[in-house]
Amino acid sequence: MAELVRLTHHGDVAVITIDNPPVNALSPGVPEGIDSALKQAVADASIRAVVVIGAGSTFIAGADIREFGKIVAGERPKLTLLPYLLAIEDSPKPVVMAIHGQALGGGLEVAMAGHYRVLAAKAQVGQPEVKLGIIPGAAGTQRLPRLAGVVKALEMCTDGNPIKAQEAVSLGIADKIIEGDLLEGAVAFAREVAGKPVPKTRERNEKLQGVAPAVFETARAQARLKYRGLRAPQAAIDAIEAATKMDFTAGCEEEARLFNEVLFSSEAQALIHSFFGERAVGKIPGLPKDIKPIEIRRAAIIGAGTMGGGIAMNYANAGIPVIVKETAQEPLDRGMGLIRNNYAKTVARGRLTQEAMDQRMALITPQLTYDGFEQADIITEAVFEKMELKKQIFGELEKIAKPGAILATNTSTLDIDEIAAATSRPTMVVGTHFFSPANVMKLLEVVRGKATSPEVITTAMGLGKKLGKVAVLAGNCHGFIGNRMLEPYFREAQFLVEEGASVEQVNQAMYDFGMAMGPLAVDDLAGLDIGWLIRKARAPHMKPGLRVPLVADKLCEQGRFGQKAGRGWSKYDENRRPSPDPETAALIESTARAAGIERRVISNEEIVDRCVFGLINEGARIMEDGIAQRAVDIDITYIYGYGFPAWRGGPMFYADTVGLPKVLARIEEFEKKHGADLWTPAPLLEKLVAEGKKFKDFDKQKEG
Ligand code: CAA
Repeated sequence: MAELVRLTHHGDVAVITIDNPPVNALSPGVPEGIDSALKQAVADASIRAVVVIGAGSTFIAGADIREFGKIVAGERPKLTLLPYLLAIEDSPKPVVMAIHGQALGGGLEVAMAGHYRVLAAKAQVGQPEVKLGIIPGAAGTQRLPRLAGVVKALEMCTDGNPIKAQEAVSLGIADKIIEGDLLEGAVAFAREVAGKPVPKTRERNEKLQGVAPAVFETARAQARLKYRGLRAPQAAIDAIEAATKMDFTAGCEEEARLFNEVLFSSEAQALIHSFFGERAVGKIPGLPKDIKPIEIRRAAIIGAGTMGGGIAMNYANAGIPVIVKETAQEPLDRGMGLIRNNYAKTVARGRLTQEAMDQRMALITPQLTYDGFEQADIITEAVFEKMELKKQIFGELEKIAKPGAILATNTSTLDIDEIAAATSRPTMVVGTHFFSPANVMKLLEVVRGKATSPEVITTAMGLGKKLGKVAVLAGNCHGFIGNRMLEPYFREAQFLVEEGASVEQVNQAMYDFGMAMGPLAVDDLAGLDIGWLIRKARAPHMKPGLRVPLVADKLCEQGRFGQKAGRGWSKYDENRRPSPDPETAALIESTARAAGIERRVISNEEIVDRCVFGLINEGARIMEDGIAQRAVDIDITYIYGYGFPAWRGGPMFYADTVGLPKVLARIEEFEKKHGADLWTPAPLLEKLVAEGKKFKDFDKQKEG
């Protein structure tokens, strides 16, 4: 095995290089390696100062996250980083941390234990632990406020976002930015400070003085609002408050106590699952690894509506020139106006410069013809959700697109194979299902048809990453992964109001569960007419006699299409703020009565179980059908595309957390009450329960 930590001499400066690819995580052996190298450097009389640097693209990305699962499982002892960091700080010879790439989590904690920190101009530092449901565990909450001040430390440890080099220097987290070669600059800096008394972060208490208790109360209240239901941000605040009330050693003990409390929480397990899940979805079992993706240098889009415009912004943001085609000037102008407005809002918020906006707008070419489409490497159809229209467009593309161009459809439900059959090159056809608003939502559902080539799949998945998305591969069926599972979720939400729950109760129960929005609020936002159109198209294929929700169609017949109409499941004011709509409530009640549906008091627990277990049961079928290759693909789809709380790990991980026998028992209960057609347990769920397994075991088997 290659050495994780190397010690070299640059004259009178020792250089300790951490070399643990890909991100120099503090895996077992790394802290020990730094410790042993430092001891050698301290013992060597020819050495006057020490530089610690990372090999490869980064300094240290933190503790090895894989180790946390082992700690929780009792397979390895608790985190043991802290004593090594104390040893660095106690070195009599100055230790200069030379940071490029990222110093995150334990990486920043290592850096802060050094006596000085110098940064490459593009370096970033941060304490992202809360994003994993934990808090810094090696004195980050004690040293960061000593360097950056309490308020900034509270911000960094609760939002988890990294800051840039320049800010780190102005805050006092780092000493200097090195232009040019980092190692050379760091060695020169080390020579300058050699022989001087070493400053220890843990002894710098001046920024801890005089902090009003209200600072912590405000931080707690803000975190409660911003990170609804999460414990880790609150624990981080507690630990930073401890830094202001206790000495360094006691503060570290308090941090360790809080760290262990959150590490063992289901929130941490779920968020760690999401972290690795986000990366796992890009690795597709069964696809050859050596496939060369098609290079996407130019793109074209058909349709300048909300979706087409949002997709165009993604390309422009990634620096890829894109043509947007419409059939008439008016919708084209409207679409471009929307794009301009979206960018202008970002500029107004200070998140984009006017110059960058102008550059991006210049990459988008609006037009009414197919001119230039012959140069596009990918053409994406983003028109209305009508099969005949899509087939007509793919027929036209056939004549225009260059050989080797990817022909993508943004359909959210329709049969990719039927669309592909409209061309003579079905291997080049793929679904790229963006989520609205496409310039914001992180999910990209890549849908493979039966003929889609591995090269096209690989390109589409890679394109997702290039566009800043998380791409998940789905198979072809009505609604693919995301929208297929949504059917039972929305169905149950609507049945529940017919059976006696109010619209507000259903929305609130699911919001309290952690969903970004309640299901009927989502329906109002998306527009009820979309589901109406899909239901009409699906009606001939539905099993006769099957119970279907009754109210949504009636709302649509009255033009109550949701937010855009000011009325849907709820009423909306001019600022789109919802309030209960008595007319909808009356419509629900009369519809239920006419259909002979018994109305009763419904508990929030029943609302959550019927909606979420409906998702899970369909999810298990989707895995069984091979539409989703693994449970993790479903989890990531739901977290990034449907507002499922990441801290519950996605629907399938949540099912594992609840326990599959419990989930199955509840589904069987619903089956007895509401009928086998709607609630027959998925055979995969029954099989896993019989074998005493979890969805995660299914994934392990798939990944080999
Ligand atoms: N531990 C273990 N593996 C890690 C890791 C870590 N801290 N950080 C990244 N990796 C792995 C990823 O899983 C991925 O593995 P695969 O290639 O097998 O999928 C690989 O490294 C590359 O990661 P990315 O694909 O994410 O690469 P990127 O270049 O897009 O991003 C990064 C790099 C910004 C460092 C990003 O990986 C990241 O944010 N990592 C997590 C940082 C973090 O949360 N650190 C805190 C850890 S907890 C801690 O440190 C507690 C403490 O107080 C001691």
